[in-house]
Amino acid sequence: MTNENRKVTKAIVPVAGLGTRFLPATKSVPKEIMTLVDRPLIQYAMDEAREAGIKEFIFVTSRGKSALENYFDTAPVLEASLRESGKTELLEVLESTNLESGAIAYIRQNKPRGLGHAVWCARRLIANEPFAVILPDDVIAGSKPCLKQMVEAYEQTGGAMVAAMEVPADQTASYGILDVGEEMNRLVRAKGMVEKPSAGEAPSNLAVIGRYILTPSVLKTLDGQEAGSGGEIQLTDAIAAEIDAGRPVYGFRFEGQRFDCGSKAGFLQATVSFALARPDLHDELSAFLREIVHVGRAAE
Ligand code: G1P
Repeated sequence: MTNENRKVTKAIVPVAGLGTRFLPATKSVPKEIMTLVDRPLIQYAMDEAREAGIKEFIFVTSRGKSALENYFDTAPVLEASLRESGKTELLEVLESTNLESGAIAYIRQNKPRGLGHAVWCARRLIANEPFAVILPDDVIAGSKPCLKQMVEAYEQTGGAMVAAMEVPADQTASYGILDVGEEMNRLVRAKGMVEKPSAGEAPSNLAVIGRYILTPSVLKTLDGQEAGSGGEIQLTDAIAAEIDAGRPVYGFRFEGQRFDCGSKAGFLQATVSFALARPDLHDELSAFLREIVHVGRAAE
């Protein structure tokens, strides 16, 4: 029996990336504000986190991300105008995006030195407690939010946990990859972890997806960590060091569909998929999709 604290209430959300894959859109709009249907990308991550019991958020930002700070603040003029015109439903939607004062902190990562470095930048706001890391580019749809599934599993296991998913063998170079040990239903004990191995070198095709539950020892490791893959300080390497030190690390095969919204194709797939799931958009969009697929086939 252990007395370690297994309640996860804080999340680090790295949002410092330049979003160059979406230029010119991201020239003046942070990537995280780009919309999937009518909600910014970041809102999906926040809703998932709040459903998992996260109460405090630490955003690791960079220059040009002030639209994100405004987004989570109250909008008194807009709210008053909606109230006056009796648009109660919209007002509720708007108010659900506000975060209480003090529930969100913003830390600057002043150089793009990698995901491990971004997480390390938040170290002073994490006490001796487990914390989540959420990468908002990975949008995961499912009946139970991915992070909630993980928080529940973590209450049983402790250690460190990463969301995991099989990827095609030729895509391992885009992910952190687990060296797979013992398998227990959805949990996999990790024997090792490598950042972006080439197809021939990957220990498996079980990839890390952007949801993590970590313990403060990872932050200590990051203190002195050197650059790894791509010349960046990698979170994967700090987690691998946990394994090497004999601490338990698990992959969690989550239930749900993951969209890589860091890529244009993934962003479009998520847009279509979330729109089809919306009763107000479903019929018109599915009729349109059927029609263009049909016309497309005829043209082939
Ligand atoms: C990051 C991590 C990688 C992980 C991926 C998941 O990579 O470094 O280990 O598999 O997120 O989306 P990035 O996509 O930022 O290059």
